[in-house]
Amino acid sequence: MDFPFDINQLFSERISILDQNLSASRRSMERPDLQVQISAVIDELGRASAKAQQLAAPVTSASKLQSQNHQLYLLKDRESGGGRGSAVGFLKVGYKKLFLLDQHGVHVEAEPLCVLDFYIAENLQRHGYGLELFSFMLQHKNVEPVLMAYDRPSKKFLAFLAKHYCLVQSVPQVNNFVVFEGFFLNRSAVHLRRTPLKKPDGEIKPYSMVAREVVHREQRTLPWPFAPPQSPQRSVPSQCSHPVRVGFSPSRASSPVAPSSPLGGSRDQIERYREKRSRYRS
Ligand code: ACO
Repeated sequence: MDFPFDINQLFSERISILDQNLSASRRSMERPDLQVQISAVIDELGRASAKAQQLAAPVTSASKLQSQNHQLYLLKDRESGGGRGSAVGFLKVGYKKLFLLDQHGVHVEAEPLCVLDFYIAENLQRHGYGLELFSFMLQHKNVEPVLMAYDRPSKKFLAFLAKHYCLVQSVPQVNNFVVFEGFFLNRSAVHLRRTPLKKPDGEIKPYSMVAREVVHREQRTLPWPFAPPQSPQRSVPSQCSHPVRVGFSPSRASSPVAPSSPLGGSRDQIERYREKRSRYRS
């Protein structure tokens, strides 16, 4: 995705981590003109993501990022855009308090890291860029994909999770979030606790009210306990590139370094995947 300004000047790293400050560096924090350009990039990516997912409105924008405690990983390509660089895509994550059903149908309260939005420019999809972003985030957050929750994942994203992380069997929920088998095994890692079945009126809702839910009014279903479980179920693929070890206790370094874990996906693995894909396409 090209812009009429220098992406390389805005984002010095291949993957930049943006938060409420909307800054990729101290320099951009001190320059209002650069902040305006960063906002334009986030807004444009957010719009493209909404369009790709057929959402009525973007769930990602600069103003939303400023008001929420989320993190956005932005991937750029330094060489393209006539040497000014271009935006390849982004991944937005954040912690959310969720009310979930475990595999026995017991209500539990959890506050997992959630994938809230994910987008790779149309012409660059299926080239391994999504995997590069996702594995970088896993390293940076020191988290396993099985311990995360996914906010209304698209078909493409479900295929991505199945292919790269063997995440196939979801545990049915009555909200928009999808969690996979294994999520409930490591209670401390996702801050799980059982919730009482009956709650005082008006205290909490059984599902999280998120922007994604608001823009999907046409797909709204009856809330718990009136609606049947609706989480998508996928067919089992024969292989995946980074198998998930259920119940695995994270042991990676927590510093934001270049991905190297077998679970996160090393640069070699990403390159191998890209080579395989280009062979397949040519
Ligand atoms: N159809 C089916 N599966 C797809 C497609 C597609 N068009 N595109 C990607 N995938 C899945 C497949 O498993 C694919 O493997 P394959 O090509 O061997 O079948 C795998 O992803 C490819 O991996 P990457 O190349 O690393 O992924 P990519 O760079 O394409 O990024 C992403 C994945 C972000 C889902 C991208 O396809 C995209 O932007 N899609 C449109 C927007 C979208 O649906 N975002 C997810 C929203 S849901 C949420 O954010 C919670």
